[in-house]
Amino acid sequence: MQSEFQFGKVLKINDIIMKNNVIPVEVAKKVFKDSNLPCIGRAGIREINKLAFDLEAASGVKFIHMELGNPGLPAAQAGIDAQVEAVKKGVAATYPPIDGVPALKKEASRFIKNFLDLEVAPANCIPTVGSMQGAFASFMITGHINKEKNTMLFIDPGFPVHKFQCKVLGIPMEQFDIYNYRGEKLREKLESILKTGKIHSMLYSNPNNPTWVCLTDEELKIIGELANKYDVIVLEDLAYFGMDFRKDYSHPGVAPYQPTVGKYADNYMLMISSSKAFSFAGERCAILAISDKLAARHYPDLKAFCGQEIFLRGILFGALHPLTSGVSHSAQYALQGVLKAVNDGIYNYRDDVLEYGKKAKLMKDAFLAAGFYITYDEDLGEPIADGFYFTYCYPGFKGADLVEEMMYYGISAISLDTCGSDKQGIRACTSLIKRDEIPVLAERLQMFAKDHPIK
Ligand SMILES: Cc1ncc(COP(=O)(O)O)c(C=O)c1O
Repeated sequence: MQSEFQFGKVLKINDIIMKNNVIPVEVAKKVFKDSNLPCIGRAGIREINKLAFDLEAASGVKFIHMELGNPGLPAAQAGIDAQVEAVKKGVAATYPPIDGVPALKKEASRFIKNFLDLEVAPANCIPTVGSMQGAFASFMITGHINKEKNTMLFIDPGFPVHKFQCKVLGIPMEQFDIYNYRGEKLREKLESILKTGKIHSMLYSNPNNPTWVCLTDEELKIIGELANKYDVIVLEDLAYFGMDFRKDYSHPGVAPYQPTVGKYADNYMLMISSSKAFSFAGERCAILAISDKLAARHYPDLKAFCGQEIFLRGILFGALHPLTSGVSHSAQYALQGVLKAVNDGIYNYRDDVLEYGKKAKLMKDAFLAAGFYITYDEDLGEPIADGFYFTYCYPGFKGADLVEEMMYYGISAISLDTCGSDKQGIRACTSLIKRDEIPVLAERLQMFAKDHPIK
């Protein structure tokens, strides 16, 4: 039978006959049906992860997992040692202080000075249950600081869970895809949204999940200046701290420093995750660093929401207390141990995570060799850096359709549709794939290409 697939034509799933798929069509169809998902290709990260495991169980074929940003490296040893010692000393018996253990707060403030060249007082460095909770607590509070401003702005593409958090909190959202507004073009676009007067805060990740675009100092300055002009809080998500491997930001107290809006904005919050940079995702401990100015600021409207008027107190007693009453005592000591080793120059985290960038290069080569293309391919005129994520697509496909189709070839990832992207494609995560699986990936991509000839 003649394939109906043509370059430039949006393909309907199963228009073509697959011959080289590794998951039998009837097996996949049954698993898809049993999942009850309304659209396989638009499923969230965890849903795709479960589907891939269900397909593995049903077919006996191991997947190439590129959906979940789980670290693929062992946890930083300094953290494990500090955590074990803390548990042995008996911290498990008592509630941790809601604003964090003093030793961790001190190391967090030192870290911010050493690697961002910013001053944030230890009092304003707050542990959270992953930066996930840092974001949730921030949304809870920033959504109620000013009765006139009810909207959160996302500089996208972004991490889908943040929008889900706002959704469950009932916080109105706006977003735009930054790709067409890089450099000085960002000013006009951002100002057109901020001048509506309804935005209370804005969030982006840098390096960016999912595109791996890295904002420059020039762009962060624009964001900071406009945030000051329109009195907007900036939430800077540093989940991939220091992982723009084109530069080396990993030496304490030595330039270059990880670029940050903190150089330009008065009212900012930094979310410093331990999950990726230190491979400590399992212990769920991150730092929410609030600029000294913002922490001390009075927001009279906040009182009606949580009985607190001072921003820092709102975060602590209006959000973190009702959420979890603090962060696991021993996990705080773990993070303190890692930060101390990094601050003292004993542990260089970059040496470990560099592996993600090396794998990204090999994986991208395999995709390109099979006729795929990189969706977000440029970073201000330079090829996008190799890091934790990259984005790709195949001629004629929309992202969601491609996600589903690639599952027949034992490859799982998420669609950019779920990330606020204007472009069609898929996000690939480089962390879980092992070096010896890259040839398997390459072979499956070639099989996919054989079944989907580009005309
Ligand atoms: C951009 C971004 N922000 C936040 C998080 C969550 O980080 P944590 O594990 O510290 O909660 C992730 C995790 O993948 C992420 O990609």
